[in-house]
Amino acid sequence: LPDGQALTPPMGFNNWNSTHCRAEFNETMIKGIADLFVARGLRDAGYQYVNIDDCWALPSRASNGDLVPDPARFPSGVKALADYVHSKGLKFGIYTSAGTKTCDTLGFPGGLGHEQQDANLFASWGVDYLKYDNCNNQGVDARARYRAMHDALVRTGRPIVLSICEWGENRPWLWAAGTGHLWRTTGDISDSWSSMLGIFKQNAALAGYAGPGRWNDPDMLEVGNGGMTDTEYRSHFSLWAMMAAPLLIGSDLRTATPATLSILTNRDLIAVDQDALGRAGRVVRASGGVHVLSRPLANGDVAVALFNENAAAATISTDLREVGLGAGTYSVRDLWTGSVDTTASSVSAPVPGHGTVVYRLSRLSTPSAPPAGVTPLSDLVEL
Ligand code: GLA
Repeated sequence: LPDGQALTPPMGFNNWNSTHCRAEFNETMIKGIADLFVARGLRDAGYQYVNIDDCWALPSRASNGDLVPDPARFPSGVKALADYVHSKGLKFGIYTSAGTKTCDTLGFPGGLGHEQQDANLFASWGVDYLKYDNCNNQGVDARARYRAMHDALVRTGRPIVLSICEWGENRPWLWAAGTGHLWRTTGDISDSWSSMLGIFKQNAALAGYAGPGRWNDPDMLEVGNGGMTDTEYRSHFSLWAMMAAPLLIGSDLRTATPATLSILTNRDLIAVDQDALGRAGRVVRASGGVHVLSRPLANGDVAVALFNENAAAATISTDLREVGLGAGTYSVRDLWTGSVDTTASSVSAPVPGHGTVVYRLSRLSTPSAPPAGVTPLSDLVEL
């Protein structure tokens, strides 16, 4: 949406991938996450939204029609939780579905037909971000359902980011940029290499649709949930940053390992993800499980990812032309190790199985033009 929100992809936390609807999803957890955002430097690294997912409400609306927070999970209420999150200098997000019920089989009330009442309630609680899901939609056209919530949110007068969670079913990249700030492009991620890889391939092909205020959403991060190796999680994070994806942490930070925290707080990768130009990286070559991605950045640099889908280590090479750069000498900074090299032609790296090397290329010099009146050597050779 061209309303000045989400000019870079949203960054934050959402509990779903780590808790689903288990009882540990409650106000103690969410407050703990907000505390850790501050204490462990995540807020300073750019993480901003603390979002709650499905199962926060009671199964029935109140007699006035309002949604009611589940008092077992949120004894202080959602307003108090949002206030707490705001007191930490963070923003707060909530979830419901553009249907009669939400997605969990327990079946909590959805927003279809209640858009204005729910939007008003969320705004009165200080909600800054709404993830609006697609379950139990009664076959109503997706554009109309999401448009109705968009209009209701605008009428509250509160800026609220709208995350369109319709899983790519109705090709939202073709219509949702005027309705929400981000749209899911795929089904749900799970904490496995094959899930992450499949989602990467689907989402990467949609790079041209992303831009400031309108992002492809390949779903939330699984980094730290235990189903992949740290090498695989570094690939996951690298690819999401290259694709300008939202970076919503999906693991319980209260039990995060040092490796998980160092992946999530890699400032150089975050800078790629959050680059002001807002152009998503493109796959410039993919064959035999080797992928080269290139992402132009606002200051003229280019981020290059060498991604090895295969289990065996491989040397992956590219060159300036393939990643879209003109002739010149460039510094080549490895965004995982910090090491710096230079090149005037090729870029190459040994990449572990399931690994990704990401470089940031910055121009150091251009080939100097010949002084006036001197015939360039190349022209003489032509003769
Ligand atoms: C859907 C969404 C998930 C999550 C669950 C909650 O599956 O795609 O991200 O919000 O619903 O029930």
